[in-house]
Amino acid sequence: MYKKNHIVEFEKYAKNYDLFAKVQKRVAQELIKEIDFKPLRILDIGCGTGEIYKNIPWKVEKFIGVDCSKNMCQLHPLSTNTEVICDDFESEDFKKRVLHLAPFDLVISSSALQWAKELEQTLKFYSKLSDRVAFAIFTSGTFKTIYKISERKSFLPSFDLIQTLAKIYKNSNLYKRSYKIEFEDTLSMLRHIKYSGTSGGSELLSYGNTKHLIESYPYKYLEFEVAFLLN
Ligand SMILES: C[S@@+](CC[C@H](N)C(=O)[O-])C[C@H]1O[C@@H](n2cnc3c(N)ncnc32)[C@H](O)[C@@H]1O
Repeated sequence: MYKKNHIVEFEKYAKNYDLFAKVQKRVAQELIKEIDFKPLRILDIGCGTGEIYKNIPWKVEKFIGVDCSKNMCQLHPLSTNTEVICDDFESEDFKKRVLHLAPFDLVISSSALQWAKELEQTLKFYSKLSDRVAFAIFTSGTFKTIYKISERKSFLPSFDLIQTLAKIYKNSNLYKRSYKIEFEDTLSMLRHIKYSGTSGGSELLSYGNTKHLIESYPYKYLEFEVAFLLN
């Protein structure tokens, strides 16, 4: 399988993910709280180490998670009604396979769809598998000051783009939430970005840029922005 840069990061830092993914954990919990029914057949796109599965308070009949990082998949809890498929959610092979497993009562995804190479096509495809979706997608307001200081453009989709794409759903409810996590110093802040796999596999944390950020970053917190899309 072709390894995208960020997947290499998730493979490398899988064991640390649960320790460092504070915002992602909060986002997954908040996303589940938004679901106003009890879906029995669920597909989780980019399931990682199982943050969605671990937080579902009702009994499900079938839970299928897909994630292309083998190390993340291995840390996902399993049970008789759970299946974790290690694959790329954008690959044609996986799409064919999952079409046979549809329909689902809910397609959910937390902190993963921002990695889609083709977000529009991906949303269109997964909208065919269920009438109900719950997506939390990190948007370009995340680390906005870091990107500004580094004079780099965020790889994350903008909230405006997601607003445009949300039109494929008939009754969608879309809003954004901002989060801040406080740190003792800039170095631990940058370490957090590295271990939670949120640097986008880019040069954001190259040696030179890290040095520059340590000297210039004005805050003791990191900024995150997440779009919640429900249908
Ligand atoms: C930030 S983690 C979120 C994991 C989990 N949903 C959570 O809320 O903690 C993003 C996950 O998406 C997975 N991922 C990213 N792009 C993917 C792709 N194209 N296909 C499958 N999984 C992907 C990564 O391997 C990683 O486990």
